[in-house]
Amino acid sequence: MKRALGFRSGAIEIKSAKEVDAMREVGRLAADTLCKVGQLIRPGLTTEDINTFVHRETLRLGATPAPLNYRGFPKSVCTSINEVVCHGIPGPRALQQGDIINVDVTHIYKGYFGDTSATFYVGEPSDEAKHVTEVSRRSLQLGLEQVRAGARLGDIGAAIQEFAEGQGCSVVRDFVGHGIGRIFHDEPKVSHVGQWGRGARLKAGMTFTIEPMINVGTYEVRILDDDWTAITADGKLSAQFEHTVLVTESGYEILTARAEPLQNSELFGEYFAAG
Ligand code: MF3
Ligand code: CO
Ligand code: CO
Repeated sequence: MKRALGFRSGAIEIKSAKEVDAMREVGRLAADTLCKVGQLIRPGLTTEDINTFVHRETLRLGATPAPLNYRGFPKSVCTSINEVVCHGIPGPRALQQGDIINVDVTHIYKGYFGDTSATFYVGEPSDEAKHVTEVSRRSLQLGLEQVRAGARLGDIGAAIQEFAEGQGCSVVRDFVGHGIGRIFHDEPKVSHVGQWGRGARLKAGMTFTIEPMINVGTYEVRILDDDWTAITADGKLSAQFEHTVLVTESGYEILTARAEPLQNSELFGEYFAAG
């Protein structure tokens, strides 16, 4: 049956073709903004500079920055450096050579949300920074590759957990991917750890994010007194990548796919290719 608006299958919304088009649109805009952020990354840039850029760019596109005032979040983008796992608040901190920084961009356009993030290298990374960043990039890809109608939600977490732990890293439990559409954080919760064959069955038309946060040390996190900034409990590095994805009959479509490679991030294309 054709419907003008999405309906819910269990607790998980199925988007109509029209809604999927809107999700593609906002996804492309968010991806474009993230690409542009990549071009700016350099030592000396402050996270406030990134916020200013993302705020202006979002408005220039005719979109709204979703983080601003979301549950009291004070800025238009999340900037998470080194041991910051997620939800870092932009401010006066300047990027330093050797830092890694995740920039998490979420736009609202015509009522729909598009959510995407990447970790960038500030100059030359340490071996450890490079490892955790490339493990998180690959974790997202492996999670995406599980997505198709009929697969289980647990397959995504299982694929990520097996890989990341096999690489000597840990997977954050306290933050998860999420359904997305007209609501920023909707059902389902998309855990980045899991068991094969468990959890809700995926159906074509579902849209959600996959956004594994991968740590060098413990997966445990601590929230700073600002009530937002999540850092690793042991102070070691954390990295993250995020896409908004559509479930299709045969697989998946990345709604936040980028038109060009990411500057200051996609530097080690063959990191896991050998063997
Ligand atoms: N973009 C984040 C996510 O991936 C959420 C940020 S909420 C904010 O779900 F308030 F911190 F912006
Ligand atoms: Co998200
Ligand atoms: Co995000």
